[in-house]
Amino acid sequence: MSATFPKFDSDCSSLLCRYLSQQTFSVLHDKVTASGYTFLQAINSGVVNQDSGVGVYAGDAESYTLFAPLFDPIIADYHGFSSTDTHCSNLNPEKLFAPDPDPDAKYILSTRIRVGRNVAGMPLGPGLAAPQRKSIEAQVAKSLTNLSGELAGNYYSLTGMDETVRNQLIADHFLFKAGDRFLEAAGLNRDWPAGRGIFHNLQKTFLVWVNEEDQLRIISMQQGGDLEVVFARLVKAIREIEKSVSFLFDARLGYLTSCPTNLGTAMRASVHIRLPKLSLDMVDFKRITDLHHLQIRGIHGEHSEGEGGIFDISNKRRLGVTEVECVQDMYAGVVALIQQEKVL
Ligand code: ADP
Ligand code: ARG
Repeated sequence: MSATFPKFDSDCSSLLCRYLSQQTFSVLHDKVTASGYTFLQAINSGVVNQDSGVGVYAGDAESYTLFAPLFDPIIADYHGFSSTDTHCSNLNPEKLFAPDPDPDAKYILSTRIRVGRNVAGMPLGPGLAAPQRKSIEAQVAKSLTNLSGELAGNYYSLTGMDETVRNQLIADHFLFKAGDRFLEAAGLNRDWPAGRGIFHNLQKTFLVWVNEEDQLRIISMQQGGDLEVVFARLVKAIREIEKSVSFLFDARLGYLTSCPTNLGTAMRASVHIRLPKLSLDMVDFKRITDLHHLQIRGIHGEHSEGEGGIFDISNKRRLGVTEVECVQDMYAGVVALIQQEKVL
């Protein structure tokens, strides 16, 4: 029996709505990957959440080939990455030129750079079974607790974590929230909170989220705008973790992630920045961020609002650009934003 074409609101502007033609749907609607992830699961988040920007999630590596007639145009649109383009990595901190754009600490509150990673040989989060999620948590926690020096810390499972501690970690921007409706519809919140947790060092400058949207989100962050130090710490952590955990990687698409927006470098480099004057004119603000391929988020992360003229500014492109270029994009844009704020 064939499934019916999903209903989209007249004002739906997701990439799913834009690229899912009747013809593509008729080719893909009954496709299932070898690990059992269906095309209907892949599009469910964007069908349920009509305000999605993208609307699709991969359940495993094979989703990116089996569902390519839909995923490829979405990837091309989001990253500006065509089917003949190639991705290449550069995680060399010496190649980054990003001296603190705000040495007097007038605008930048904090800097954070994260990468997503998933474990080779496993389905991605939307396609994981509970025992697989638990085994990933055990493997990653073990690898992390072996780290030393600045990276040394502890793993805290969400199961059994005190509510006050959890809420404080979220309020302080260290931990992911529960109940995200986009992840919910993608099947990423199944069996919550089992198998999820957070590792962090004492200073909370190095953190790893386990089994949120991706199986690992490796994070380096600190107060102020020293991008070079934050990047170097992140690279050091990635290098250490990959000694004991193999990551899912594809020659064309780079690091594979559950959401196609994170493919390639899987890197989001952001600052929390105070721009009270520039943000009064969102058109001009967006003109500068668009020019530098940047995204504006609120200060409590994605799908939140700016508060008191403070925003989260980060690189938008992650595929077909290197990690160094992601940070370099963000650096150049932040320099331009600060310059404009000063003029005003
Ligand atoms: P991600 O970056 O992992 O895709 P979010 O946009 O949901 O996810 O952000 C996760 C958390 O990280 C949120 O609490 C957000 O406020 C915090 N965060 C992001 N960038 C910064 C930053 N530069 N400084 C401090 N916290 C940040
Ligand atoms: N699925 C959501 C949407 O389409 C989020 C997309 C990008 N963000 C993410 N966390 N993967 O709007």
